[in-house]
Parts: sequence; C-alpha cells; structure tokens
Amino acid sequence: MDKIFVTRSSIPSLDEYMEEIRPVFENHWLTNAGAKHNELRDKLKKYLGVDNLELLVNGHMALEIALEMFGLRSGEVITTPFTFVSTTNAIVRQGLKPVFCDVNDDDYTIDVSKIEELITPETVAIMPVHVYGNICDVDAIEAIAKKHGLKVIYDASHTFGEKYKGRGVADLGDASTFSFHATKVYNTVEGGAIACHSDELEQSIRVIRDFGIVDEETTTMVGPNAKMNEFAAAMGLCNLRHVDSWIAERKEAYDYYMEKLDGVKGIRLNRYHEGIEPNYAYFPIIVDENEYGESRDELYARLQKADIYARKYFYPLVSELDSFNKEYDAKETPVALRLSKEVMTLPMYAGLSKEDIDRIVEVIIK
Ligand SMILES: Cc1ncc(COP(=O)(O)O)c(C=O)c1O
Repeated sequence: MDKIFVTRSSIPSLDEYMEEIRPVFENHWLTNAGAKHNELRDKLKKYLGVDNLELLVNGHMALEIALEMFGLRSGEVITTPFTFVSTTNAIVRQGLKPVFCDVNDDDYTIDVSKIEELITPETVAIMPVHVYGNICDVDAIEAIAKKHGLKVIYDASHTFGEKYKGRGVADLGDASTFSFHATKVYNTVEGGAIACHSDELEQSIRVIRDFGIVDEETTTMVGPNAKMNEFAAAMGLCNLRHVDSWIAERKEAYDYYMEKLDGVKGIRLNRYHEGIEPNYAYFPIIVDENEYGESRDELYARLQKADIYARKYFYPLVSELDSFNKEYDAKETPVALRLSKEVMTLPMYAGLSKEDIDRIVEVIIK
C-alpha cells in the first residue's frame, strides 16, 4: 500500500511554471526585486487585503525582520512555547528574551487571561502565534497591548488567506508574518512576507533584507540577506492562481475527517471559533490516553506501521529544547506541556482522497 505522508506540497503543472519563468530566462534578472518578485508582492497585497507588505526569503527571516524593523533591540517578548521553534529562535536571535505564556486548551493560541501577569518594565512586545489555522483572541490582545504600550507581531505562518470577522488576518496587529514554505497552504518553495501598516516600515524591510543597503553608496545598518528570488516568486505567482481551489479541497478533507472521527471516544478534534474563515492548514487531534485507551505515541506508532506518517507537531515543547540550555521551565505552561504530549497532526493537504482518509480513520477507530 502507498505511504500517506502528513503533507504533500501543492504545485502547479510543469508547463505552467515553465511559462511563468520564461521571461526570467530571457532577461537574466534572477533576484533583487525583479519583475516576478514585484508582481507577486502587488498581487499578494490585493489577495491579502493590505496596503503594505514585503516579500522575504522565508518565514523565519520575516519574524526576525519584523522585530528588527520596530527597533526592538533589548527587552522581553511575550510569546507561547506551543509553536514551531522558529518563533522563539527569532526572538532570541534578535537579542530579546522570550517570556512564555500558556495557551488555551481548545484552540492552542495564547491564553489572553495570563498575558498581563507576565508584563514587566522590560516587556517590549507580544508575539502570539495563530496555531493550525486558529486565530488568536486578537481583540483582547489589542486591548492589552494598547494599555501597556506594546507592539504586537503575529506569527501568522499557519493562517495564509484567512479572515477574522471579515477582516484579513494580515491586517491584524502592528505586523503579521507569513511562511510560504513548501509545506504550507500557499508556498513559494521557500519564502515569507511581512504585512505592516506604513510605507516607512515597508521601506525599512527592504533595507534590512538587503544587508542594510539604502543606495549604491549608503548602508545604514548591519542587515542580513533575506531577499526572495525570481524562481520562488514565479512559483508564488502560479500557486496564487490555484490557492483558493486548494483551500476548497482541504475543506473537503476536513469535513470528511470530521464526519468520520466525530464522537470517537478520547479523540478531540479541532473546531474553528466563530468568525474565522479557515484555510484548513492542519488537522490536529488530541489523544486523551485515559479515554482512548492508548497514548498519542502508541497511536502514532500504529499509524506508522500502517504506512501513515502523522506528525507530533508541536512536540517537544519549545521550552524543553536542548538549544535553550534548560533556561525555561516547561511546567510553567502546563496546558501547552500537556497538549504537546497529546497532540498529533494527521495527513492534510489539497487532494487528500477520501480513500486515504478512510485508511487513516480505520487505524484510529481500531
Ligand atoms: C509557526 C511557524 N513559525 C515560523 C515558521 C518558519 O517559517 P519558514 O520555514 O518559512 O522559515 C513556520 C514554518 O516553518 C511556522 O510553522
């Protein structure tokens, strides 16, 4: 039987991509804000409904540059450990200190009732994560940030194209960052973007991502190289034509999973809160060992035996990783810690067939 992987990158036909990159072969302009790059940036602004957005080499650099563009060079950033390590790495690599807030049990996003007790005179920003397509309690976060004069930068890597109460997710907070990694709902192979709210910030992204170079003779800061190249942008232009139908295919898979798994004892499913127009990025399940009769790890291993490759995402919890030298105590965020031991994301991608979902469900129900 064929292996079923947790994800499968969505791509255009080879012919479509060849047609898209033909001009690049004609004009020999491969990177540094080429025609494809600029076309993609303008089309994404329209698609995401924002006036200010810049493209980057990946979602990780989007996080780092979003912190840098606000001039946040020291202090504490309140964030969650139930995320991909990139969020925390970005904070640490910018010389800032992550302060971990716990998450909600039902949607895995930051528990807004616990943010204020973590604010100190050193706090400079909040970096919440929209997890699996669930959107944070943005109204409460905005109120807290306003009261305490903090910047809010959303890690929106999981929520490309989503809306909350009719408003595009890219429009939320002081800035939102996106990952266009190959495994995401929308990809440019590798890529990312920052959406923000002023021409000045947009200009500062352009300067930072290009070594700090302002013009031929002027370099104003020590910047990295984080530019998106023309081949990635061309992929992005092709994929943007298809992303709505891919999200519709994901919805079909989501609905079928829900129909089949709803009511299975000990398996909790992800239900989107009201007001969210989801992109169905992931299909997480929470395995309650006592009720299900088997641990997350046991189910994971059984799926693997049946050639079904789920993912323990996010596990281990970021605050438990060796790279942070035991600086954090994962027990301080007990909900996130428990979820990391119970969660698993099932295969989810555009085109996942009902037959494959049946195979996955059969293993879970047994
Ligand atoms: C929540 C989150 N943040 C950040 C990133 C980093 O994005 P990238 O892989 O494009 O650098 C990812 C994805 O990989 C992610 O899922």
